[in-house]
Amino acid sequence: MAGIDMSEKAEKGKMRGESAKGAGSRRISQAFWGILMLCSLFVMFVAGILALRAGRGSAQPRTQDRAEGENGANPGKAGAEPADVGGQDTEGFASGQQGMEDLAVRTDAHTAGEEGDAQGKALPENGEMEDDLTGGGDVKGDEDTPVIALTFDDGPFTPVTNRIVDVLLEYNAGATFFVVGSRIDMYSDTLKRVYESGFEVASHTWSHKNLNGLSPEEVLKELDDTREKLNACVPVGDVLLRPPYGSANESVRELAGTPLINWSLDSEDWKSRDADTVIQHVLSTVKDGDIILMHDLYECTAGAVEYLVPELIARGYRLVSVSELFRCKGIPLEEGILYRNPWDCY
Ligand code: NI
Repeated sequence: MAGIDMSEKAEKGKMRGESAKGAGSRRISQAFWGILMLCSLFVMFVAGILALRAGRGSAQPRTQDRAEGENGANPGKAGAEPADVGGQDTEGFASGQQGMEDLAVRTDAHTAGEEGDAQGKALPENGEMEDDLTGGGDVKGDEDTPVIALTFDDGPFTPVTNRIVDVLLEYNAGATFFVVGSRIDMYSDTLKRVYESGFEVASHTWSHKNLNGLSPEEVLKELDDTREKLNACVPVGDVLLRPPYGSANESVRELAGTPLINWSLDSEDWKSRDADTVIQHVLSTVKDGDIILMHDLYECTAGAVEYLVPELIARGYRLVSVSELFRCKGIPLEEGILYRNPWDCY
């Protein structure tokens, strides 16, 4: 019996233990569910705040398309290597050929960039460069004001160039126009308007060939013919050079006899041919000191500029010509040096 008693006690004790254990595990599971509830409430709260913020962000840009573009913009493209393939439509280049040339330029620019041979040959006091008309007139910012240069290649082309000049004048903004020499006779009135409106006029060679593929004589002819034709139309004197496709090897740089100007921000108007895409790309990548590549050849570029000029000014940028940008930054432009921006050259 004692044995039975003992086992009954043990049994009861065990049952008591189990019921206590049951109560304990119920408490644990209640606590668990409680914590789970709190966690889900917290997650819903955070999600709510994020949703509110996202809603506010997309309301800012002018159009819905632009909002999506800005949010989804690719930030990795700032300062991309030269890809100046724009502006050939009216001159009848096949797009396939352009693609090949574009590729060649990228390779060339990359190689040239790696040379890193910044040769210091200063222009004597920058001579006539100091006296050029650069636009931007009396708009002077303090030293902290971010400054950028808008540049327009491959023109003039009256319907587009005039729209761009109109908006630049309206907002007292400066810019540089890199003109193709062979177009000057056809668009001389437009070129005169550009110059007389106070914008910087510069050379984009006579026929927009890749200078790296030409003999020294041919390179010099491209440059001299353009300078002469420019000066027969407007008194610009010596001018800056933008090599077609951004392509200028050491030999071309030595022959140039002037500072060479590439860009740090390619608007890619030649690629997208879409104003909203250009706007999104520029606004999402622009920074102080940028030289922005555009083409006064496409209607979309004029449309983009009409939005970008007031918008960039509203964001605190001062818009100037290339020469003015370098003066603002206290960097002298040197003959035979190819610049992407005031601090990046070779
Ligand atoms: Ni060009």
